[in-house]
Amino acid sequence: VGRHIVFLESIDSTNDHAKKIASKALDGTLVLADEQTKGKGRMDRAWSSQKGEGVWMSLVLKPNIAPHRASVITLIAGASVARALERFGADAKIKWPNDILLEGKKLCGILTEMSAQMERIDYIVLGIGINVSTMEFPDELRDIATSLKREGHLLERRDIIIAVLEEFERMYSAYVKTGDASEAIGICREKSSLIGRDIYVISWSGKVPAKALDISGEGDLVVEYEDGSVERVISGEVSVRNR
Ligand code: BTN
Repeated sequence: VGRHIVFLESIDSTNDHAKKIASKALDGTLVLADEQTKGKGRMDRAWSSQKGEGVWMSLVLKPNIAPHRASVITLIAGASVARALERFGADAKIKWPNDILLEGKKLCGILTEMSAQMERIDYIVLGIGINVSTMEFPDELRDIATSLKREGHLLERRDIIIAVLEEFERMYSAYVKTGDASEAIGICREKSSLIGRDIYVISWSGKVPAKALDISGEGDLVVEYEDGSVERVISGEVSVRNR
């Protein structure tokens, strides 16, 4: 991955740009921007992406795997970011399935988008946003977001990108070649911000209180509901209770 790079000074969203070029792009193409004017988060939220203040990047991936196996790639990305930051001494936690936290605040978000036919993936766009040097966040993010610099880690964007891509390349190629995601899932478990905590599982039907028990070998979040039933949550959103 990252052998072909599209660098843009300013773009609406690297994910949207990656989707536009995806059909012609080679597997592993990296779209990188200095600034996003319309950075996207999950659930139609905006992702604040000031010029030069973070790593705003998207990878175009064309793995030859079944579409239902693609969600693990988000976990591999999260594990790669957490491992990469560990190299620089930052103890990041992974909030399953796709947030990276530092000191309990959101440092990095991952937005995976896929285009697939019945049993074939056309492409996956894996977007990663890491707040690097932001010191002032908009009011609504002030208490929930952070950056590496705010937590005392002075790092170059270049070094972060290289480290993340190295980690990702190893775990991703193992997964697409052999179906083995055990390294990434092990990291998600080891660095989980949820395991052992009281959470809410959020779905279309509302917020259900539960306890996070584990992350399964398939990458699902194993939860126990208040009636004692244990279930695997395959994807979706959870939040921590009574923080
Ligand atoms: C989230 O936490 O909701 C996901 C945030 C993802 C942000 C990244 S920044 C690079 C890429 N381009 C986008 O528009 N979004 C992702």
